[in-house]
Parts: sequence; C-alpha cells; structure tokens
Amino acid sequence: MYKKVLESAEYIKSKIKLAPKLSVVLGSGLGDIVESLTEKEIVEYKDIPNFPTSTVKGHAGRIVVGKLSGTPVLIMQGRFHFFEGYSMKEVAYPVFVMKLLGITKLILTNACGGINERFVPGTIMLISDFINLMPSNPLIGINDDRFGPRFPDMTEPYSLDLLEQARKAAKQNCLPFGEGVYAGFPGPYYETAAEIRMIRTLGADAVGMSTVPETIAANYLGIKVLGLAVITNMATGIQKVKHSHERVIETANKASKDLSILLEEVIKGL
Ligand code: 6GU
Repeated sequence: MYKKVLESAEYIKSKIKLAPKLSVVLGSGLGDIVESLTEKEIVEYKDIPNFPTSTVKGHAGRIVVGKLSGTPVLIMQGRFHFFEGYSMKEVAYPVFVMKLLGITKLILTNACGGINERFVPGTIMLISDFINLMPSNPLIGINDDRFGPRFPDMTEPYSLDLLEQARKAAKQNCLPFGEGVYAGFPGPYYETAAEIRMIRTLGADAVGMSTVPETIAANYLGIKVLGLAVITNMATGIQKVKHSHERVIETANKASKDLSILLEEVIKGL
C-alpha cells in the first residue's frame, strides 16, 4: 500500500504549488468554506492514481488547495463512507496520502444526529472522543511500520490543544456549540430508536456514519485531529419526525456558514 499512497501523493504534489500542513475534510452539505479560499488549485479525485471515487449525493469529489487567511490548506470536498461499499482502508486512504503530503493537522467535519438533548439542530459539537460501532477499522491487517505503530494509542484521539482553540473561537464568535462523544455507525440506515437508547446509555452525544475511520488512521499516522460535528437533526426516537437525507443536507447547508466561521477562526489561531 505504501507505494500506492506515495504515487497518489506525488501526483497531487505535481498539481499544486502550495505545501499545506493543515487539511480539512468537509462533510455532507458543509462546503461553504471553499468560497473563502484564495490562490485556489483543484485536483479531482478521479484524476489521482489509486484514489477511490465519491458517489453520495451532496458530495463533490475533489481536493481544493488554497490559502485561508494566509494559511495554506488542503480541503477534501467529499469523503468515502463504509456504507458505499468501500473497505475501511479505502475510507481512510486520503488520510494516508495526507501523511505523505506533509499534513500534520486534520480537521474532520460531518453532519450528524444529536443524542444529547442539550443540543438543537444547528449546534456544532466539538468532538471530544469517539465510539467505534463500525464492524472494522482501517488498521486491520499487516502493519507497515513506515506509517505507524502496530498498537497505536488512542488516549487523545482529538487533540486537546485543537479542542481548546475551537472552544475559544466558538465562544468569541457566539457560535452555537457543544462538546461530546461521537458514535460512528456503519449506516446507511438511520439507527433504530432502541439503538439510540443503547448508545445514549453508553455515553454517546451524537451519531453519524463517518469520521471515526479517518480519526483512527490519523492518530496512527501521528496527525493531530479536530472533529467538528454539525447536528443536523436529533437522532431516532429523540425527534418525533422521520429522517430524510434531503432534510439533513438542507440543515447542513444552513449551518455551513457557522462552520465556516469556526473553521476560519480556528485556522487563524494555528
Ligand atoms: Cl440520526 N444518524 C446517523 N447515523 N447519521 C446521521 C444522522 C443520524 N443524522 C445525520 N446524519
């Protein structure tokens, strides 16, 4: 896999002038920040050797590199989900490529369901920890020591420094935010009410279908992670109405502005 990742990284390097150390993965409907970039350069996933391709509605499939208030950033617009049929290794593949591109900090964003009843749709939950309820993870298999250790530590899956920066930025800009544990389900169905009661008891504050594999890979690779989960709706049994992907995207689009402000402020402070 190392050679393949290197080939992907070399291709991306050959297409961009900037050398960002920071990357942002944008979740469904959360693309606003791209508009604020200057010196934009675009690389389509489909053109990158060995890169998976994106299929979900509301997801572009491209890397946008540019400057955000002076800081070079690499933005992934669209990610790969386990429910699309990709293996865990494929889901996390871009994070491995980021490592070989020299990325040291990664901001993962997503649209998710709220479990903690202090949250309302539109709240940005700063992720403090995760519960992996997916059937696997990207580190299964023979370990390549060039990437990271066989048994990586997960004491601080989300960087306490970055978390503190995000907290400060959210407060200063009066953004609606909370903090909590993100549970990653495989999807693609929205959980049952019983499943939500179960994970609420287990300590989950929000639930979604992404972010956890990338967080695991980044920690393994020694990349610091900030997780920003936009609550687009309350989870099953907590809200009275049924879920729809269209409503998720609609609310994500509305919250995307707040998320962009938070991203810009956090990035300024780095
Ligand atoms: Cl309620 N569940 C999951 N797994 N993902 C979501 C969601 C719920 N709402 C938005 N994304």
